[in-house]
Amino acid sequence: MSTLITNIGELVTNTREGDSAASPGFAFMSDAALVIDGTEIAWTGQAGKAPAADERVDAAGRVVLPGFVDSHAHLVFAGERGGEFAARMAGIPYSAGGIRATVMATRAATDAELGRNLRALAAEMLAQGITTFECKSGYGLTVADEARSVALAAEVTAEVTYLGAHVVPPEFESDPAGYVDLACGPMLEACAPRAKWVDVFCERGAFDADQARVILAAGRAAGLQPRVHANQLGHGPGVQVAVEAGAASADHCTYLSDGDIDALAGSGTVATLLPGVEFSTRQPYPDARRLFDAGLTVAIATDCNPGSCFTSSMPFCIALAVRDMRITTQEAVWAATAGGARALRRDDVGHLGVGARADIVMLNAPSHAYLAYRPGVPQVASVWLGGSLGWQA
Ligand code: NIG
Ligand code: FE
Repeated sequence: MSTLITNIGELVTNTREGDSAASPGFAFMSDAALVIDGTEIAWTGQAGKAPAADERVDAAGRVVLPGFVDSHAHLVFAGERGGEFAARMAGIPYSAGGIRATVMATRAATDAELGRNLRALAAEMLAQGITTFECKSGYGLTVADEARSVALAAEVTAEVTYLGAHVVPPEFESDPAGYVDLACGPMLEACAPRAKWVDVFCERGAFDADQARVILAAGRAAGLQPRVHANQLGHGPGVQVAVEAGAASADHCTYLSDGDIDALAGSGTVATLLPGVEFSTRQPYPDARRLFDAGLTVAIATDCNPGSCFTSSMPFCIALAVRDMRITTQEAVWAATAGGARALRRDDVGHLGVGARADIVMLNAPSHAYLAYRPGVPQVASVWLGGSLGWQA
């Protein structure tokens, strides 16, 4: 079965014509068309030259983009922390400690409750154009609760991250070394078979550099690839630890020294920005302009979680990055698609080159810039997932 989407006002491909990989920067065509064959992109080009297909969709001049790739989300949890958000807006600063409230609620929830919440958030993401998302454990923090978190995440995505090292849970407060042993031992063993990634929150109040190194090395030995929560609450060793470990991504990057930027620039580690966190915690936005100018590979992700940022909206995050992190609309859209794919080490998503997965978003708008130009307005018209219509307004 093939589908022709034609009369596309702006087709964001993120790939050079004839190429099957994502380009290092934003790329688009005007007056374009594309053909989906089965689950993949089979052709892109000028609308007037499009081949015939079984089905025809008229985009009526609207913009078509690769589905958003959200490389950082915490969707397996129970409860909510709206009161904590309200208190923050009244002047109480964000700290890692709030995570423990969600841990208590998550441990008390049934599998069915956790699954319902998870599927509702995944559906919200799809309706906002996210076609690939990563999902972390990290609110269970016992062997059984981490194992069920990872198992639930694996039901909704292939990008599952084991985050047993989110914080030290209260029952290990006086024995953090004992918790690191658990997270590197039986907990990792129970989670590794269903996970692809290992993550650690390397921050004051969570895990220090040495603990983070041990956890990432254990994850790697169990077949998982590293990624790191780094430099969210202050300057610290997170980025350096991520680069040393060959992590796919260092996430947050809110406080970066020149040395951190140099380390990232010479590495295969993506700098993932989470603008919704700065919005929701009233922390200063990092200067993404500085990162692009230094030649770093940058991703934008939602970090959807009940504490530091409870949004599932990539368009909102794009708008914040453009407005408050000083990057262009093109850079932000690239970072939310091809950048996210690089942060997940995927070359089949984040672009619409021939052979890419047909994960496609059509907006009720003529150009990608509307994602930031019309903040807060639902603009997603249709979403194709692997070539099939997955959501429609
Ligand atoms: O990415 N930084 C650590 N983890 C989450 C916050 C989780 C929470 O506050 O519940 C984050 O911001
Ligand atoms: Fe996070």
